[in-house]
Amino acid sequence: MFVQTVDTLLVVGLGLIGGSFAAAVKSAGVCRQVYGYDQDRGSLEEAEALGIIDHGCQNLAEGVAVADVIMLAVPMLAMRPVLEQLAECSLDGSLNSKVITDAGSSKRTLLDAALEVFGEVPDYLVPGHPIAGSEESGVAAAKADLFEAHDVILTPLENTRLPAIEKVKMLWEACGAVVTNMDLYHHDEVLAKTSHLPHVLAFSLVDTLAGNPDNHDIFRFAAGGFRDFTRIAGSDPVMWHDVALGNSQAVLAALDEFTDGLEVLRKAIIEKDSQSLLGIFGRARSARQHFSSLLESRKQRVKALPESLVSREGLSGSVLCSCPGQFEEKETKEEVMESMKESTQMFIASPGGSISGEFRVPGDKSISHRSIMLGALAEGETVIEGFLEGEDALATLKAFRDMGVQIDGPYQGRVTIQGVGMHGLKQPEGPLYLGNAGTAMRLMAGLMSAQSFDVTLTGDHSLSGRPMNRVVDPLAQMGARIETLDGGRPPLKIKGGSHLKGIEYQLPMASAQVQSCLLLAGMYAEGETVTVAPGIVRDHTNRMLSGFGYPVAVTGDNGCRVAVEGGGKLEATRIDVPADVSSAAFFMVAASIAEGSEVRLSHVGMNPTRSGVVEILQLMGADITLENESLVGGEPVADIVVRSAQLKGIDIPERLVPIAIDEFPVLFVAAACAQGRTLLTGARELRVKESDRIQAMADGLISLGIDAQPLPDGMMINGSGVATKPVFKGGTIDSHGDHRIAMAFAVAALRAKDDIRILDCANVATSFPDFAGLATRAGMRIVVKGKCE
Ligand code: S3P
Repeated sequence: MFVQTVDTLLVVGLGLIGGSFAAAVKSAGVCRQVYGYDQDRGSLEEAEALGIIDHGCQNLAEGVAVADVIMLAVPMLAMRPVLEQLAECSLDGSLNSKVITDAGSSKRTLLDAALEVFGEVPDYLVPGHPIAGSEESGVAAAKADLFEAHDVILTPLENTRLPAIEKVKMLWEACGAVVTNMDLYHHDEVLAKTSHLPHVLAFSLVDTLAGNPDNHDIFRFAAGGFRDFTRIAGSDPVMWHDVALGNSQAVLAALDEFTDGLEVLRKAIIEKDSQSLLGIFGRARSARQHFSSLLESRKQRVKALPESLVSREGLSGSVLCSCPGQFEEKETKEEVMESMKESTQMFIASPGGSISGEFRVPGDKSISHRSIMLGALAEGETVIEGFLEGEDALATLKAFRDMGVQIDGPYQGRVTIQGVGMHGLKQPEGPLYLGNAGTAMRLMAGLMSAQSFDVTLTGDHSLSGRPMNRVVDPLAQMGARIETLDGGRPPLKIKGGSHLKGIEYQLPMASAQVQSCLLLAGMYAEGETVTVAPGIVRDHTNRMLSGFGYPVAVTGDNGCRVAVEGGGKLEATRIDVPADVSSAAFFMVAASIAEGSEVRLSHVGMNPTRSGVVEILQLMGADITLENESLVGGEPVADIVVRSAQLKGIDIPERLVPIAIDEFPVLFVAAACAQGRTLLTGARELRVKESDRIQAMADGLISLGIDAQPLPDGMMINGSGVATKPVFKGGTIDSHGDHRIAMAFAVAALRAKDDIRILDCANVATSFPDFAGLATRAGMRIVVKGKCE
């Protein structure tokens, strides 16, 4: 690949952004020299003294003469005078051979200035905007790592030269940023909402309160909320003055939209309208949580940088350098990975402890997803209790809100949905982001294939690598039109307006997601859709469809043949979501392996298509009893009482594999603590879960000193457990962003000699929000580092 080179960079404007860019490029060693210019002599001298630039120019012309890339990091309204000066410096037309870029947050302002100065937008001008900053200002606040793991948006025009774009991209990537291209006008609208509006609101709030005669007490007693909300009001006033005026049109539109929302809120308070207030607050909270998961996904994208590090790696050699000897060696891929991982959440699980108490783990994930989907499409109001407030289920909830469904909550597990009927969904404004949720993507692929509008389903780094052909192929046989990336990976671009026809489909793998996807599509298809699974799979979809009054025919061995007739409708209902047996499994194993433990897990879903973990642990000698067994909303539930026991290794019967499929990570931990060999086979599906769970668990167990051997479709573990002794060494584990791997190794710490540090744990919140808190209350010792706010 041709690697772009830069000999001399000139940074014009040495404030926080310009100074940080110069420092980052210089420390990355990707240019032979970094020149700086600022009309403020103090800043220029300070930048030189701090070593942020190699040379401070006395005037702009001096820098322009030698630079091949010029970065304009001046306030927005200074862009035009600076462009005028640039034009004057190069009357000979030499600007044409350079690249000019900028870091301003209104691209329209730059465009207008360029048009006025040059009569057209030069093809060597690459407008850019780093989404990074700080409330501090000035060159003294510059940091070489300011852009590390942050987005940079480039908004090239149609005439912008490709090599110029590539050069600017290379420089930003060398600063550790993730570069995205965007339409220039769209950029200004988006930024007006997400950056400019919050800044002007923060300035305005502080100004209003400061003008209040009581301001002394207001500021004295201001709590964290005030601090968090107004932190950005400490930013540079000139810069924000320029942004507000430079992007005035979009900022005013955003202010109007906000004012309308505020008026609704005001009215709800005046009218003591609790339902509206809770609606606003509940929706906002779940949108904020969803936003946190988007942030986490961005970090994961950055974590994947090694694949796209081509330019960075090239930089460490001599390819880019005219003077190779002068450049420092760059970090290795592994170092970049490690530093990125540290920027996400980590668990430090300390050894020992026992488990006791009585608790209810969060609601069942599979049922929570389905309750939103079916409730949204039903006629009437569906009320859900016990809803899982984890990121996966919240992603589904948000997706249906984005399709126009009014959903209130979750509020203490309660969600109320005003169903829109089978044909009432509206086209969302943009792609539906489903985070880490494979169930959401696969089931929604079925539903979305039958809508009248086009829709795109996207997900985080892990979900974007998971196979979707298993649903896309049979849906295509039904008449759906779906585009994927190579290998059937997301995003899924689903065409609307397809006419679906029922098919009879033999599932190649025992997958509830595939079966459910086809049944959901089947509700819209002409004729009958028949699914035949090769083994038992979780049957929540059938049970819930019946609960919503939709006829389902279940026949065959163990109910493996499930069929629906298209054209029916769903009637709203009440749903009581039981505690998730997959989440309870961590405590079942924890209490079994930690001496002196006794725990009661209440109201756990004991659906026979899910309870394989209990049977497997009992076969291994676990002391587990079920109490208070009952049927709630069509689902069996029970309290599970677990006491510590000496476990023994077993050959896990293959018939139990699909009904314990999510519990193997923690069952492997149990096997490591058992006496003798445990053998799992027939579980190839584990390789395509949120991570390759066979490899990830084998790597982790082996690094903790366990005799584990990964097999193509399972694992062999020679347990050395004597109930009272530690079996795991301490060490650092990569969870690969997989919630269940992270929680499994946290449980292992109960029988470890030393701390187990588990990297990349933020996704635990997808299925088990506050796992660490509950586990700690139960007796485990887990500290969470680097929580994403
Ligand atoms: C699920 C089905 C299972 C399971 C997943 C949830 C569901 O996946 O692993 O966590 O809710 O239908 P497969 O159907 O791919 O086995």
